[in-house]
Amino acid sequence: MDAIREADIDPTPLTGKRVAIIGYGNQGRAQALNLNDSGIDVVVGLRDGSPRISGAHSDGIATASLTEAAGGADLVMLLAPDEVLGAIYRLIEPNLRQGAALGFSHGLAIRFGFIEPRPDLDVYLVAPKGPGTALRSLYREGKGMVALFAVHQDASGQAEKIALAYGRAIGCGRAGILRSTFAEECEADLFNENAVVWGAVPEILIAGFDTLVAGGISEEVAYMECVGELKLIAELIEARGIAGMREAISNTAELGAVLGGPRIVDDGVKARMRAILEEIRAGRFTDLLRDEEASAYPLLQAARKRARGLMVEQARQKLLD
Ligand SMILES: NC(=O)c1ccc[n+]([C@@H]2O[C@H](COP(=O)([O-])OP(=O)(O)OC[C@H]3O[C@@H](n4cnc5c(N)ncnc54)[C@H](OP(=O)(O)O)[C@@H]3O)[C@@H](O)[C@H]2O)c1
Repeated sequence: MDAIREADIDPTPLTGKRVAIIGYGNQGRAQALNLNDSGIDVVVGLRDGSPRISGAHSDGIATASLTEAAGGADLVMLLAPDEVLGAIYRLIEPNLRQGAALGFSHGLAIRFGFIEPRPDLDVYLVAPKGPGTALRSLYREGKGMVALFAVHQDASGQAEKIALAYGRAIGCGRAGILRSTFAEECEADLFNENAVVWGAVPEILIAGFDTLVAGGISEEVAYMECVGELKLIAELIEARGIAGMREAISNTAELGAVLGGPRIVDDGVKARMRAILEEIRAGRFTDLLRDEEASAYPLLQAARKRARGLMVEQARQKLLD
């Protein structure tokens, strides 16, 4: 799969067009500022009383209500939390211009039917593969962040060109934009969050820390070993790949890794990963996400409270003090 680069992308589909960014959080702020710096006419749509209105104005970005911003734009990018995008779409749909383009940075709301877009709209995805803070800082350094793009609905015959021009304007063409689908982007992203980097890695760090402390090692040393070294391996893998990372460490560390790693991540782990992928594809995860939103996030609130009370957090604090 070849990445599409800035030089191969026609920027003109956005020329003279107005983009409404709905939401000014993690992705919304970064994308609005990058578009603005790329010379695109951008307005941010925020609900009444949003605490972010003044921040957008200090950033030099115009704001309007959700319906005004959406109604005055050629492209409307939905950058609020995924679980509320259905409600936002229902609010703004009557105002959307005929033939406007509706954009997403995650395939979830379309893949799992939170939104059924009007047939006259182009519907596209530009999903930067990282947080908004990094999307913005890379853009300012003259670099970009890799992104996936996809088209769900091509009413105008121009949806792909619009998506690519949008990805270029937020700087992703500098790093490369890869073709995907809403389903692929969404399922892979949710799987990684549930089962790999964001789900499994923190749990294994905690389990390792707890095991060492239970074995008589001090909390500070256990923290430095099991949590503190994560950044080192992440940087090595980014720079050299997994094979290169192994070659860059001592023989002792490498032998430990190749003997111990597969005993932890065995076939049972892979079977549970497959079960999680099936649950995601069947919509059971997104059902829970909707339930969470509807009842003020009880699972997330409890998990945040539990995480703050963990021994591993107290060890981190001791090292910081
Ligand atoms: N976060 C990431 O690193 C990342 C990476 C790639 C893709 N994405 C995708 O990007 C999209 C945006 O995610 P995000 O993390 O940037 O979102 P976020 O930071 O949580 O979005 C916050 C913004 O959404 C607004 N908002 C929240 N609930 C709302 C509602 N009910 N009605 C209207 N506005 C509402 C907030 O309004 P107020 O200002 O009024 O509070 C705020 O401006 C999602 O599709 C996500 O999957 C995120």
